[in-house]
Amino acid sequence: MTTDIAWEEWGRKDPYFGVITDPKFRRAELTDAARNEFFESGRAHVDYVLRMIRQYLSPTFQPASVLDFGCGVGRLLVHFSPTAGEVVGVDVSISMLEEAQRNCNEFGVSNVRLFPSDDRLTALAGSHYDLIHSFIVFQHMAPERGREIFRRMLGHLAAGGIGAVHFSYSKTCYASTNGVAPPAPATTSLPGAVRIWRTSAATPPPGADPEMQMNPYNLNELLFILQGAGVRRFHVEFTDHGGELGVFLFFQKLP
Ligand SMILES: C[S@@+](CC[C@H](N)C(=O)[O-])C[C@H]1O[C@@H](n2cnc3c(N)ncnc32)[C@H](O)[C@@H]1O
Repeated sequence: MTTDIAWEEWGRKDPYFGVITDPKFRRAELTDAARNEFFESGRAHVDYVLRMIRQYLSPTFQPASVLDFGCGVGRLLVHFSPTAGEVVGVDVSISMLEEAQRNCNEFGVSNVRLFPSDDRLTALAGSHYDLIHSFIVFQHMAPERGREIFRRMLGHLAAGGIGAVHFSYSKTCYASTNGVAPPAPATTSLPGAVRIWRTSAATPPPGADPEMQMNPYNLNELLFILQGAGVRRFHVEFTDHGGELGVFLFFQKLP
C-alpha cells in the first residue's frame, strides 16, 4: 500500500512531525522542551479520553487492557500504561514502533507490547481489549481499507468494552456542498483526499516530505458497522484540525 510506504518513510525521517505536523516537532528542531510538550499533549489526550468515557458511557471505567491502533512513537501509550495492566500498540511503520519502544524504555514503562500492524490485525489474533483506541490514524488511509480494519478491530473489543476511535468525515473547504466531497476531478485517483506536505508534481523534489493523505469517511457506513457489531450507545466529540473535520466516536459494545 502506498500509504504504508509513506508512513514508514515518516517514521524513518521525521516521526514526531509525522504525528503532529507542527514545525517545532521536526526532528532537526526537536528541543527537550518541544519533546516534553509533545508527550504532555499525549497525557492531556489520555486524560480527556478517560474523562469522556466516564462522563458519557461508564462512570467507573478502568480498563485492564488497552489497544492503541496506529500508536506512532508512543505519545499515548506511555500515558495509557499507568491506567491499565496491559497496553498493546500496533502500527504499520516499523520505524515508528522502534521509536515507540525507545520512548517506552525512557519513560520506564514495562507493560506495553508493540506489534507491526497489517490489515487482518494478525498480531491481535485471539485477543480482546477493554479499551480500543485510535486517534488521527484512519484518516491517513483509504476509507475502503479503513472500514474493513475498523470492522475487524471491533471483533477484538471485549464484551462491555469501550471504543474511542477517531475518523475524519469532511473538510471546511466542502462548505459549498454541505460537507460532502465534490466529485473528484478525472486527474486524481483519490476522491476527496488532499495530498498535503507534497507538491502535486508526479515526482517529488529530492528531500520532499512523504505523502500524507487526509481521507474523509462516510459516517453512515461507520454507524452501520458499529450497530452491526453490537454497539447500542455512543457519544461523539467533533474535531477540527486545520479545516479537516472529524468525529471522535466513543462507544460501548453490549456485554
Ligand atoms: C498521525 S500519526 C498518530 C500517532 C498516534 N495515534 C498519536 O496520536 O500520537 C498516524 C500513525 O498511524 C500509523 N498508520 C498509518 N496507516 C496505518 C495502518 N494502515 N495501520 C496501522 N497504522 C497506521 C502511522 O504509521 C502513524 O504512526
